Amino acid sequence: MKKIGVLTSGGDSQGMNAAIYATVKCGLQKGLEVYGIYNGYQGLIDGKVELLTVQSVENIAHRGGTVLGTARCPAMFTPQGQKKAIATLQKFGIEGLVVIGGDGSFNGAKVLSTKYGVNTVGIPGTIDNDLAYTDFTLGFDSATATVINAVKGLRDTMYCNERSFVVEVMGRHCGDIALYASIACGAEVVLLPEVELDLDKVVSTLKHNAKVGKHDNIILVSEGVRINGEYLSGKVADIIRDSILERMPKINIRSVVLGHLQRGGDATIQDTLLGIRMGEHAVKCLISDKTNRVIGIKNNKIFDEDIVEALAKTRQFDAKLYAFSKSLVKY
Ligand code: ADP
Ligand code: F6P
Repeated sequence: MKKIGVLTSGGDSQGMNAAIYATVKCGLQKGLEVYGIYNGYQGLIDGKVELLTVQSVENIAHRGGTVLGTARCPAMFTPQGQKKAIATLQKFGIEGLVVIGGDGSFNGAKVLSTKYGVNTVGIPGTIDNDLAYTDFTLGFDSATATVINAVKGLRDTMYCNERSFVVEVMGRHCGDIALYASIACGAEVVLLPEVELDLDKVVSTLKHNAKVGKHDNIILVSEGVRINGEYLSGKVADIIRDSILERMPKINIRSVVLGHLQRGGDATIQDTLLGIRMGEHAVKCLISDKTNRVIGIKNNKIFDEDIVEALAKTRQFDAKLYAFSKSLVKY
């Protein structure tokens, strides 16, 4: 293999730049030409491709976002779009493709490899941590750290005002950001997509806490919780705040949606190192003709696995961790 390409796709996440950095650096060290494909599959379809150099990736490893740009690309779902993507790979002579993204992007890579024989390797880049085959995805640690910092800030003002806050965090249908952050910041209530929403329980916790003199509660809610069976990202915090107010009209309570702040800012050291380790491993796979793989981490060991098998796995909810989170905040 002489020429490889790298793209980032779907929602950006911290650690993507680290993975690009390592793919380029390690690829060049192994004598490969490394092409950057801009704006995910859209750039692959449109031929937005550029040869990358060491200078292209200088000082990017720690930065949030992705220097290659990203996109959600509906055309990639169609055979016409997919054929254009293949034509671009052929035009530039790209023999191996590193796809950095979430499960959607991996499904795109799976199509390219199983239907068209493209040599692909996937690196999990998404703050959601929603891929079953790996312990962690790039960006999860950084996004969770942002949530913890935001809650620390809120706590200062909440305490002196005896005020509670409903804080909505991202994660799509996976509650890991909310769950891990709840443990680290001692959220009094945590609401996850994996656990049925029970507002009566929330209210009884808040009433109990008020009785023992605790009026500054964090109700950390993952955007993926279903309200009347509906996914209502961006509105969940307000709806929950209003439902609590209906049942406890005197409570001092506000809501905040942390939104895309969670995808911004530098990557944590953990995400930076993870991105670099995964990028290096992806290049190793390609040069040893080990393709149609995805890279993961288990027990702090980087590994690769068949893309079809990895995507077929179902995520197991960590009920023990959830119980532990709740046990820490009993008053
Ligand atoms: P993420 O990768 O963060 O999960 P998306 O689910 O939006 O983000 O997927 C990113 C892109 O991957 C899509 O916009 C599309 O271009 C491509 N993709 C997703 N699923 C498929 C599929 N089944 N076939 C082909 N391409 C897909
Ligand atoms: O998949 C990452 C993610 O940030 C989710 O947590 C969130 O639901 C979604 O992307 C937001 O997507 P967009 O940036 O397209 O609004």
